[in-house]
Amino acid sequence: SHLKNIIHGIPKAELHLHIEGSFEPELMFEIARRNNIALDHDSITSLRKAYNFNNLQEFLDLYYIGAQVLIHERDFFDLTWAYLRKVHSQNVVHVEVFFDPQTHTDRGVGFDVVINGIYKALEKAKQELNISFKLIMSYLRHLSEEEAFKTLQSSLPYKHWIDGVGLDSSEMGNPPSKFVNVFEASANHGYKLVAHAGEEGPEDYIWEALDLLKVVRIDHGNRCLGDDALVQRLREENIPLTLCPLSNVELKVIQKMEDHPVAKMLDKGILATIHSDDPAYFGGYMNENYYETAKALNLNKNQLMQLAINAFKASWLSHETKEKHI
Ligand code: ADE
Ligand code: ZN
Repeated sequence: SHLKNIIHGIPKAELHLHIEGSFEPELMFEIARRNNIALDHDSITSLRKAYNFNNLQEFLDLYYIGAQVLIHERDFFDLTWAYLRKVHSQNVVHVEVFFDPQTHTDRGVGFDVVINGIYKALEKAKQELNISFKLIMSYLRHLSEEEAFKTLQSSLPYKHWIDGVGLDSSEMGNPPSKFVNVFEASANHGYKLVAHAGEEGPEDYIWEALDLLKVVRIDHGNRCLGDDALVQRLREENIPLTLCPLSNVELKVIQKMEDHPVAKMLDKGILATIHSDDPAYFGGYMNENYYETAKALNLNKNQLMQLAINAFKASWLSHETKEKHI
């Protein structure tokens, strides 16, 4: 269709993507087989049928189970390479990828195994697909700050590969304030800071992420529109929100795509952007997220271009490189 062609034609940046959330059932079954691990489902179809979530936690439960088949460096490489090939086919030219070290190190998989596999695939994509990248290590917020500190320590030999840290997993009951010290320590090691906030959690968590963690970007931030002072803060300081529309529908953050706040956010002058979060679980990569949002909210070409430009502005590319994309 005309709209699909427009969206495909726009060079895009992906800033909110959990690499473990790009794990397609086909690849999961293949890796499970070669690692001699039994899955709870006996077919790809039956696994996909289980992707039916009432909230964030129901998704996370399956997402962590799926990640358990990743054992060897090659597994992390294959996962990341499959994602990069897919988004290359969608005209994505820059990615800032999250990974969750604790999901793997807690099972006895080495930090080195995880990051080597992911990083080598990103390097290959830079060489062969001309995709630029940044890498973001996320702390799991359902675990303690002490556990996050251990992860920070494990990351230090690789800090030249890691651009920033994030905060993800179960939001309710795990406010940003729980991680003030480890975020401060991360910044002291040179990491940039982002955090998931205001996905299921209240506006307060967005304030905390800004004031206590001192993040430069908010992942999701859906709930900000209920608070005029917060909207003003986001606009005045040009703090990007990395929104994930298909994720929001699948996790019942909103009832239907027509309710998505991104158009209102653009109207209010917020640096809002669109991304895919966990595309293997939520039914779409970048182009599908743009398309479903554009269709539901009647976005015009200018608004779509604005969203794509905003993502480059919000990215961690150098000023000169950003200018080339904008
Ligand atoms: N981990 C992977 N996807 C997530 C999301 N949408 N929210 C919180 N943690 C996540
Ligand atoms: Zn996310």
